[in-house]
Amino acid sequence: MFLKRLLCLLLCVFLVSPVCAAEQTKYVALTFDDGPSGRFTRALLDGLKDRGAKATFLLCGYRLKDYPREAKRICAEGHEIGLHGYSHGCMAKMCQEELEREIADTLALLPEGCRPAFLRPPGGKYSKEVLDAAEQADLGVLGWSVDPRDWATHDASGIRRQVLEQVRSGDVILLHDMSDSSVEAALAIVDALKLQGYEFVTVTELARLTGQAIEPGKVYMRFS
Ligand code: NI
Repeated sequence: MFLKRLLCLLLCVFLVSPVCAAEQTKYVALTFDDGPSGRFTRALLDGLKDRGAKATFLLCGYRLKDYPREAKRICAEGHEIGLHGYSHGCMAKMCQEELEREIADTLALLPEGCRPAFLRPPGGKYSKEVLDAAEQADLGVLGWSVDPRDWATHDASGIRRQVLEQVRSGDVILLHDMSDSSVEAALAIVDALKLQGYEFVTVTELARLTGQAIEPGKVYMRFS
C-alpha cells in the first residue's frame, strides 16, 4: 500500500513538474538609457555577463563619440542597442529635419553590423513628428512600464525594492548606466528576480517571445 502510494506520488511529480517549470518562466527586459558611459557601462557589462543576463542599451550619439569601445562591447556580448537621440534634447520639440538629423547622426556612430530596432525619445516624450521620423527610420518607439527613477534617487536598495514590488512578466524596466548606484541596483535586481524564475532578455527578444511584431513608428511600453 505504502509503495503504491509512493509510486503514485512520484509519477504525479514527474508528470506535473515540467508543465509547472514552463509556466513559471517569466521574462523581463532591463533597459539602460543615456550611455554609453565609461566605467559604469563596463561594470554593468561584467555583472550581466557573470549572470548570463541580456539587456537593451538606448545610446546617445554625443556619448557614442566618446565611448565607441563600450558600444562595440555591448553589441559583441549579445545585448541590444537602441537609439536615445544624438544630443539628448527633447525630441517632442524638434522639427522633422532636426529629428532626422538626430537619428541619422547617431546611426552613423553605431558599431558595424549593429541594426537598432527601437528609438526611445529622451524623457519618453514624443510628438507625431517623432513617430513619423521613427517610422521613416524603420524603428519602433520604446517606452517603459517600470521606472524606479534611479537617476534621481541614487539609492541602490530603494531602486531594487521599487522594481521588485512592481515587476510582472513582460515588463520593460527603465534604468541608466550612469552611476554606481544604478549598476549596483541593476545587478541586485537580476539576482533577486532570477530566484523568482525570471529570465532577462533584450526588448526584441521579449517582443518575439510574446508574439508581438515590432512595427515602425508604433509605441511599446511593455510586452504581454
Ligand atoms: Ni535619457
